[in-house]
Amino acid sequence: MELMINWLLLIVPFVGFVLGFGVLKRLNNLYYALKLGKKWDELPPGDLSWPLIGSTLSFLKYFTFGPPERFIGEFSRRYGKVGMYKTHIFGKPTIIVCKPELCRQVLTDEAKFIPGYPTTMKTLFGKKSLHAVTKEEHRKLRRLITTPISSHAALEMYIDHIERTVISGLEEWSSMEKPLELLTTIKQLTFKVIWNIFMGSTPIKSTSIREMETFNDDIVLGFFTMPINFPGFSFHKALLARKGLHEILQSILDEKRTVKKSKGENWEAKDMMDLLMEVRDEDGEGFDDETITEMIFSMLFGGQETSAFTSMWAVLFLTDNPHIFQKAKEEQEDIIKRRASTQTGVSLSEIKQMKFLSQVIDETLGLSSIAFATFREATVDAEINGKIIPKGWKVILWLRELYMDEKLHPSPLQFNPSRWDNFIGSPGAFTPFGLGVRMCPGRDLARIEISIFLHYFILNYKVERLNPECQLNYLPISYPTDKCLARVMKAPSKTD
Ligand code: HEM
Repeated sequence: MELMINWLLLIVPFVGFVLGFGVLKRLNNLYYALKLGKKWDELPPGDLSWPLIGSTLSFLKYFTFGPPERFIGEFSRRYGKVGMYKTHIFGKPTIIVCKPELCRQVLTDEAKFIPGYPTTMKTLFGKKSLHAVTKEEHRKLRRLITTPISSHAALEMYIDHIERTVISGLEEWSSMEKPLELLTTIKQLTFKVIWNIFMGSTPIKSTSIREMETFNDDIVLGFFTMPINFPGFSFHKALLARKGLHEILQSILDEKRTVKKSKGENWEAKDMMDLLMEVRDEDGEGFDDETITEMIFSMLFGGQETSAFTSMWAVLFLTDNPHIFQKAKEEQEDIIKRRASTQTGVSLSEIKQMKFLSQVIDETLGLSSIAFATFREATVDAEINGKIIPKGWKVILWLRELYMDEKLHPSPLQFNPSRWDNFIGSPGAFTPFGLGVRMCPGRDLARIEISIFLHYFILNYKVERLNPECQLNYLPISYPTDKCLARVMKAPSKTD
């Protein structure tokens, strides 16, 4: 009898707890159903789940412990492979879109969809960053950054600096006696490259660069956390880092303004920050300091982390697949053989001839899901594929799923650059750089940077990982939890 009472004491609260949450989930769905009235029936299938939390815990579970595919997999298992699901995530009611054609429709319809990043990312990027501004202001900023980021002349100009940074970086790593964190060192390298493009004309102490790298790391860790600004929480740490980084950017801007004033007519713009100081709209108005520092910050982040993770994954995938490494090496050796004896380094036209390397980069972008999703908000009740995305709801374009679709990319988890040999996908089937007016402005620069890094790595080096079976973490971008502890070693090629 006593045993039965003990069991009841355990079971009754447990059942009450489960039922309580079940009721809460139903109430949450009911709240939105009442709010939307008849429109509710026209929404895609799905579940708003628990109030406030929704499916955020499930997202964090699969993106922390893996496999991340299970997050969308749960939706398609419960509601069918319809490509659009309603849920509640990152504190907002949301429609997740994960079919190429539907993603394309959302990403190319600027009238109905504006950027809709989670609160954490929006706050950390800042309200004046390129990721946040809309319509006219966005168009103006995009026009302004196009020439310095992606014009042919600018890209040719950057090659020399990228090349020098890569050559000296690889040389230094291979001379180290102790193993290094490959991810950390590649991040430092891409930081140097991006720094030079954006603010290179201003001398800066190496301690400030290291400080900025740390700030950058802390900010990134705050992207997908709870927006709790209280000591001990990642978001609080990220906000402090943001403040620190902006103070450094502001001090560089102040210094630049002083130099500009003292040089008067003789001053000329030499980097992106200089150009942003110079620009004027039709009414002669320039950008305020906040706009300039937030623009630079969003590009520092956009340009550094993404290229670094892609380079690291390409090295790991090539190392794990020696026959593909060999094929990539032969292509690079061939480029060198055909080079005129007077030419000293890689040229833009050579990079364009690196067809197989370009496929290695595409395959890496797909397989490692560098940008696993992008975020929008509906400005009106928008109809997509016969379903309604209600005004004010968030939309997550699940780019990761586009690549993982077996029908579009057979055996998607297998590293197979040759799959792109004659690839003709449906519109939006492969969009690692996004689509529409917000398509990544740094995509050519990123490809060049990664190609130059891989060119020198493939020809002259190899890596040996210390923990090849190390677990992965998937946020904000997949990486081995040991940050890829490895030795970088020289590996002579036929061209030596
Ligand atoms: C492998 C490297 C990269 C990947 C995978 C990548 C991916 C993306 C994606 C998917 C978007 C679209 C976001 C959206 O639709 O809201 C984007 C936007 C952006 N990227 Fe990149 N990116 C990379 C490299 C770079 C580089 C090198 C830079 C800068 C030099 C850069 C700067 C930006 C900026 C400023 C935006 C915002 C554009 C806008 O809202 O108009 N990215 N990137």
